[in-house]
Amino acid sequence: MASVSELAIEVHALRKSYGDFEAVRGIDFHVARGEVFGLLGPNGAGKTTTVEILEGYRERSDGAVSVLGEDPGERSRRWRARVGIVLQTTGLYRHIRVREALAHFAAMYPHPRAVDEVVALTGLGGKEDALVRTLSGGQLRRLDLALALVGDPELIFLDEPTTGFDPAARRNAWETIRSLRDLGKTVLLTTHYLDEAQALADRVAIIKDGRILIEGAPRDLGASAGTAPYLVAYRNGDGHLVRRETDDPTTLLHELTGDALARGERLDGLTVTRPTLEDVYLELTAGDREAEDDARVGDA
Ligand SMILES: Nc1ncnc2c1ncn2[C@@H]1O[C@H](COP(=O)(O)OP(=O)(O)OP(=O)(O)O)[C@@H](O)[C@H]1O
Ligand SMILES: [Mg+2]
Repeated sequence: MASVSELAIEVHALRKSYGDFEAVRGIDFHVARGEVFGLLGPNGAGKTTTVEILEGYRERSDGAVSVLGEDPGERSRRWRARVGIVLQTTGLYRHIRVREALAHFAAMYPHPRAVDEVVALTGLGGKEDALVRTLSGGQLRRLDLALALVGDPELIFLDEPTTGFDPAARRNAWETIRSLRDLGKTVLLTTHYLDEAQALADRVAIIKDGRILIEGAPRDLGASAGTAPYLVAYRNGDGHLVRRETDDPTTLLHELTGDALARGERLDGLTVTRPTLEDVYLELTAGDREAEDDARVGDA
């Protein structure tokens, strides 16, 4: 178990109710310093609620949280300077220019990064003098990311940072997030792009209905989720795709290839894969989808 100083975020038995509705129902997790941690889960799972509590923007109903060793509810000035935030929705500063917005934020921090550096890092080059309200959706999101980075924070909260990005911009944002990790920063991100979580996160937690269903390194989740650890696929003689789940691909491949060779055949397109994060996610949250589909049928 890491000592307190190695943990950037500690969450214990966290609960949040909005009136009668309990959005977060007792969750525990921690994020080590220097780690990229992903919170995943369906719409309404409680991700933003959790992140906003950790950012100090929402009060918790119960439980304990520590962020960089402090209670985020206090939001001390010194603490705020160490934390960078990309909210899920923003709409501030629409009538000023990109460079002005960044300079304005930079001035609030003790050791800001150079505005031009942040512009380059987030791919906003050429838009420095544009009015914020004239930016496209994806460009606005890049500005959100730039605003979170300009104070050179130790810990960065990114709530769906790449929603609305074109594919190239997403890859650029991934590079930015990787470079933050290389600098030793801690990142807590939420995303609905499971490839993004798989590519970036050291560990993820999948939340549903305010509870954590599973937590771990993306590549290890398959085993703990109860999905088969390996998938062997090939095309049979008729060209049909055959998929076999196994926890012992060596033996299965030996049998399959041995039989095929004995028949003088080849196994077309033979692959062995591990379940992706997406496979695990869909398996774990499947109940939801079926219930929703049933509800829709019921409505019709
Ligand atoms: N201010 C609020 N008042 C009442 N209910 C709220 C409030 N904010 C969030 N909720 C409810 O709490 C639940 C969790 O919302 P939250 O925004 O945390 O979900 P999320 O996991 O971030 O979802 P998404 O993926 O859609 O962003 C939802 O059912 C939402 O309707
Ligand atoms: Mg959200």
